[in-house]
Amino acid sequence: MKIRWTQICVSIALVFSLVGCSSKEAAQTQDHADPVQRGKALYEMNMIGDNKAPGCIVCHSLEPGKNLVGPSLAGIATYAQSAVAGMTAADFLRQAIVEPDKHLMEGYPAGVMYQNYGKDLPEEDINALVAFLLTLK
Ligand code: HEC
Repeated sequence: MKIRWTQICVSIALVFSLVGCSSKEAAQTQDHADPVQRGKALYEMNMIGDNKAPGCIVCHSLEPGKNLVGPSLAGIATYAQSAVAGMTAADFLRQAIVEPDKHLMEGYPAGVMYQNYGKDLPEEDINALVAFLLTLK
């Protein structure tokens, strides 16, 4: 009796670990294939990065006019194109993530957006987030 239960437990654990590993690999392969999809997935996480920082979606809705702690990011790609003279939309968005207080959205104070994404997130994740934000025209 005892042995059977142990066997059952081991089998269940094995099945779970196999399912867990294969789905993780599939997700990673997909992520690498499409930075926009990867960026969207990152954007929608409630916690992000090694220090479990608050995710973007916690403060930024994607619905026009729905402002939470931060402004809605609907249309942010269009805004980013002319936000700072001489800066490309991609460069502006990158800076908005890694140095949030460098340029402030009108009506919002400094120091509210999480300040350490540049340290917490690998370059690849920042690139993916920028790629996703660039689709929000
Ligand atoms: C704790 C709340 C909070 C979180 C989390 C947050 N933001 Fe923000 N964000 C803000 C606030 C407040 C502003 C307005 C002040 C400013 O411009 O920095 C802002 C502004 C922005 C802007 C506009 C910048 C500008 O200068 O006009 C972008 C783009 C942006 N955030 C992207 C992101 C992304 C991408 C993430 C996730 C990696 C994120 N934010 C996470 C609060 C947050």
